[in-house]
Amino acid sequence: MAKVEVDLSAIPEGKNVLIKWRGKPVFIRHRTQDEIKQAESVKLEILRDPQADSDRVKKPEWLIMVGVCTHLGCVPIGEAGDYGGWFCPCHGSHYDISGRIRKGPAPLNLEIPEYDFPEEQSLVIG
Ligand code: FES
Repeated sequence: MAKVEVDLSAIPEGKNVLIKWRGKPVFIRHRTQDEIKQAESVKLEILRDPQADSDRVKKPEWLIMVGVCTHLGCVPIGEAGDYGGWFCPCHGSHYDISGRIRKGPAPLNLEIPEYDFPEEQSLVIG
């Protein structure tokens, strides 16, 4: 299984980085405290694919997701859409700052890949 290592010290708070892993885009977002609060405050009963933010992250400030829309596979755009997260321009799916589907045709939240933090500032995907 191919793994990719990422130096997290190069990603400032409030920024997105896109990397490739096994030919797929992976989004890494260094979330701000406000974004974390926003993600944690959403009531699960209003979600199409109910999942707590805490079940989608290992460290609240780092959101790691496969950047493939769960509708038909386009790559969503970061810092866009009605929920402060990602927007898929292909058919208009809006994802929140936890990558959960909030509006549009996509059925599921953005997928979380296998990953780990072997050291404080190091992320390994895969
Ligand atoms: Fe993203 Fe259809 S592929 S909304």
